[in-house]
Amino acid sequence: MKPVNVGVLGFGTVGGGTYDVLTRNASEIARRAGRGIRITHVATRSPDKVQQRLQGQVSLTADPFAVVNDPKVDIVVELIGGNDPALELVKTAIDNNKHVVTANKALIALHGNEIFAAASRQGVMVAFEAAVGGGIPVIKAIREGLAGNRINWLAGIINGTGNFILTEMRDKGRSFAEVLAEAQALGYAEADPTFDVEGIDAAHKLAILGSIAYGIPLQFDKVYTEGISHLTGDDVSYAEQLGYRIKHLGIARRVAQGIELRVHPTLIPEKRLIANVDGVMNAVLVQADALGPTLYYGAGAGAEPTASAVVADLVDVTRTLTADPENRVPHLAFQADALSNTPVLEMDEVETAYYLRLQAVDEPGVLADVTRILGDQQISIEAIIQKQAAKGADSIPVIIVTHRVVEKQMNAAIEQIEALQTITDKICRIRLETLSRD
Ligand code: NDP
Ligand code: HSE
Repeated sequence: MKPVNVGVLGFGTVGGGTYDVLTRNASEIARRAGRGIRITHVATRSPDKVQQRLQGQVSLTADPFAVVNDPKVDIVVELIGGNDPALELVKTAIDNNKHVVTANKALIALHGNEIFAAASRQGVMVAFEAAVGGGIPVIKAIREGLAGNRINWLAGIINGTGNFILTEMRDKGRSFAEVLAEAQALGYAEADPTFDVEGIDAAHKLAILGSIAYGIPLQFDKVYTEGISHLTGDDVSYAEQLGYRIKHLGIARRVAQGIELRVHPTLIPEKRLIANVDGVMNAVLVQADALGPTLYYGAGAGAEPTASAVVADLVDVTRTLTADPENRVPHLAFQADALSNTPVLEMDEVETAYYLRLQAVDEPGVLADVTRILGDQQISIEAIIQKQAAKGADSIPVIIVTHRVVEKQMNAAIEQIEALQTITDKICRIRLETLSRD
């Protein structure tokens, strides 16, 4: 059968990796897909940089619209990133009846609803496995492998750069800025690395996971988002003394009132497998009603790991080119006309446990005031530790671990505690999840 012609837009970390993997494994990929998959067109901003690597075998241009408008291209692979010009390119490709593969989580999280609607109208596929968890086939696992289950919750380390930074800070005491620079040099970070450290990239990915887990439209704007830039080495070390690790998690959970979608640093018991996922590795723990817990683990960023997911999507699309469009796997796992309007909850309504670090004047009655305020808000304490004052400091750190409580009660308690004369600084609050089965 005639090979499938692929046009790649963007030839950076992932574009280059995709070219290498497709070239190196061409014959095995063809045996899997039932026909050859070959890159015939590449568009990149600086063609001169890549000309030699492509050895004149593909049509190379600086104009990505020339690729999406070329009738010889069957599948467009969008690896530019961001929204402009990626959105226009993807929409043009769809209008031209081309299938699309993308690693662009920002694009899918923000514009996926409109992109999938356009793709359904045209009867083409839009595949985005690389958008979440780099090379880990977690979208396929949830969308297809777990199709018989109700997903109770999922919790994932879904930003490789952030996990790399937290791991290096904890294990080697390296500075935040130094490790971030290394993640950028290794090709892990986003073009704007604040997306990695402020949780925006993880929120893009969680919006996607939440949709395919619960059959709701993509709602990036409803994801509660907190990054890792405010974490201190002290918190990492106090958490360890209490038997926890701090991980930056994306959590989606179905509760009676709706669906929680939240990204924030989280204390988790150190004995959990996911607490030991380090460096650029990602992992998503899924609690499903029939299967129970499963953990999907692997490289969350980098050229060839991400290319692995892009190429898997190319194989999937190629295999189903001749299938009836009505009977393909739906983009968001549930049929487009069967998506639900279950609400995504405000963070105020979410229930979780907490780690609090207070700076308190070391005098009688201070802890009594703090525990009274917590008690008034029905907040039960699991552990409390008073640390020694740092040399020359006029206050001491107090660490409190609480049982689960609704966030608005905790917010009220924090406000009252911070107003005490004896509390000398803002409270550091980190949410805590045991990630046990229910
Ligand atoms: P890079 O910055 O390495 O590559 C982007 C490429 O797009 C570069 O070749 C760039 O050219 C080119 N480009 C930028 N603007 C244009 C334009 N207007 N027209 C044509 N080409 C353009 O990014 P990555 O490969 O890291 O990321 C690509 C996508 O994959 C992003 O959506 C990212 O979020 C996603 N992703 C990345 C992962 C990773 O590990 N890096 C993992 C999973 C997903 P130039 O070289 O001149 O800048
Ligand atoms: N910047 C992203 C990360 C790339 O570090 O996880 C993979 O999506």
